[in-house]
Amino acid sequence: MQYIEPIFRPPSEALSLILQVTNGCSWNNCTFCEMYTQPQKKFSLKPQKEIEADLAGIASAGYPVRRIFLADGDAMTLSTRRLQQILEAIRHYLPDVQRVSSYCLPRNLRKKTADELEALRELGLTLFYVGCESGDDLVLERVSKGENFESSLSALQKIKAAGSKSSVMILNGMGGQKYSEQHALNSAKLMNAAQPEFLSTLVLSFPDGMQRYQEGFRGEFEPLNQQGLFQEMHWLLDNLDLQKTVFRSDHASNYLVLKGTLGRDKAALLQQVESALNNPEHAHLREEWQRGL
Ligand SMILES: C[S@@+](CC[C@H](N)C(=O)[O-])C[C@H]1O[C@@H](n2cnc3c(N)ncnc32)[C@H](O)[C@@H]1O
Ligand code: SF4
Repeated sequence: MQYIEPIFRPPSEALSLILQVTNGCSWNNCTFCEMYTQPQKKFSLKPQKEIEADLAGIASAGYPVRRIFLADGDAMTLSTRRLQQILEAIRHYLPDVQRVSSYCLPRNLRKKTADELEALRELGLTLFYVGCESGDDLVLERVSKGENFESSLSALQKIKAAGSKSSVMILNGMGGQKYSEQHALNSAKLMNAAQPEFLSTLVLSFPDGMQRYQEGFRGEFEPLNQQGLFQEMHWLLDNLDLQKTVFRSDHASNYLVLKGTLGRDKAALLQQVESALNNPEHAHLREEWQRGL
């Protein structure tokens, strides 16, 4: 495979073939995200011929491929027609593939109809990882996400209407101390309205320093300490009213690993967070050196 590195994928795509159909992220403005800021990651589309050559190479090597993740940061920026061509090529070269997934910014779906998404689903594209990050408009504006509660909800509803699934990412600690509670409450409100199939939380991390992030907050960003992160998680979980959502807080950035299905496991998950708040030394937390992005 020809990759322009680095490549990122959700933890649950660890066993999938990563098919790079775009390079970088067409938005690339979120102040917390350094993933595609290196010069070689400037946004570009990969020509169909090169994608097909990658697929042909994998097919002739005889690797068993069941799942494919379309990289990079917002492959869904491609037109429906281009996505159809890619999915048809996957069917042609790798007929055993059962699931294709992609990151998806809400704005990637603005011009796509539910019928178009349904056509893509029929060609195998069934799961979208949507970085909502927060349901709070002020926090989203401070981090230059370029989305808000309504745009996020409308994309998640479109995905559901097409019969596809969404996996939402929310960032623990994103509002700092000042906006922690409203970030948690409005994120819960967004999830309750959208009822995604999967929800995961990551802890906001600053591998390259906080300067860019702090500028968006006009200097008023005070990061949460571990206890603050757990308190925010408690607010989030307590306010979630989900019918059947697989919840995962197991990404390497988290101190406290949480896994369950909501609503069924809400009380048990809240109890785990309360233990971490009251007895952190007995809560099996990840050490700093075990964490990463
Ligand atoms: C590679 S990005 C692609 C997501 C996609 N472009 C979107 O916005 O929906 C995947 C996710 O990584 C997470 N992420 C990025 N930078 C992060 C940071 N500094 N700390 C924690 N999580 C981060 C965000 O949740 C983001 O949605
Ligand atoms: S979080 Fe997503 S939309 Fe924002 S810059 Fe990173 S990849 Fe692009």
